[in-house]
Amino acid sequence: MSEQRTTAQGGMETSYGFRSVASGEKQGRVNQVFHSVAKRYDMMNDLMSAGMHRLWKDGMVAWLNPPPRPGWKLLDVAGGTGDIAFRVVEASRGNAHATVLDINGSMLEVGRDRAARRGLAEATTFVEANAEELPFEDASFDAYTIAFGIRNVPRIDAALSEAYRVLKPGGRFLCLEFSEVDMPLLDRAYEAWSFNAIPQIGRMVTGDAESYRYLVESIRKFPRQGEFAAMIGRAGFERVTWRDYSGGIAALHSGWKL
Ligand SMILES: C[S@@+](CC[C@H](N)C(=O)[O-])C[C@H]1O[C@@H](n2cnc3c(N)ncnc32)[C@H](O)[C@@H]1O
Repeated sequence: MSEQRTTAQGGMETSYGFRSVASGEKQGRVNQVFHSVAKRYDMMNDLMSAGMHRLWKDGMVAWLNPPPRPGWKLLDVAGGTGDIAFRVVEASRGNAHATVLDINGSMLEVGRDRAARRGLAEATTFVEANAEELPFEDASFDAYTIAFGIRNVPRIDAALSEAYRVLKPGGRFLCLEFSEVDMPLLDRAYEAWSFNAIPQIGRMVTGDAESYRYLVESIRKFPRQGEFAAMIGRAGFERVTWRDYSGGIAALHSGWKL
């Protein structure tokens, strides 16, 4: 469920944080959020998650376990500033090629600069496009990753179908996303941190509390682990499983195109 529904006037609505907006409006709003935070995005990730996003991303790449085989191809969707792509290329000992796709040119610009500084410019390609309409042929990639991206996409089902289409048979799908905390004390502490501390830190570091309020609200609107696994299955993936990180603050879903 990507929370899409038909309004009385016959238009489609979707969630934008806790609000409902016309389906076509959500993407524009999301794009403004990431244009606004792009330059401070990496620093904010460390502050917001107390560095834990690094461990979750390392866990994602370890589960993917990219082979050290020249020609092995990753598509990292909503790849932003390149965190997953760089880790995958490095884990493949420089053999993999990673295409970083994102709808936001400001995020990609930061990613391109980081790739150049790390000596990974040749191993990476940056593409500005929408996860809902991937500009690639069927069966083009060995793996598809998306980290903290899918909840921002207005039509999640469309993004999942596209993921399935561009993967080769035998290809792997991995999605890392904030999820449902299911621990009584942790969930209260996490709630307080999310709704009070994160927008304040956002205001101090980026001057933009509103963008971070959206990010927190959008986490709460995202489907729970089991529900999201069912959506991945409906897109055609098999052997769908997931792992929780930090009590469910984040969850990593895996599926195969068999
Ligand atoms: C929270 S960032 C995640 C960046 C990176 N994957 C990471 O884990 O650090 C979410 C990214 O999703 C991108 N995004 C949002 N909607 C998208 C869409 N429809 N297609 C592709 N990317 C999208 C945003 O531009 C942003 O860069």
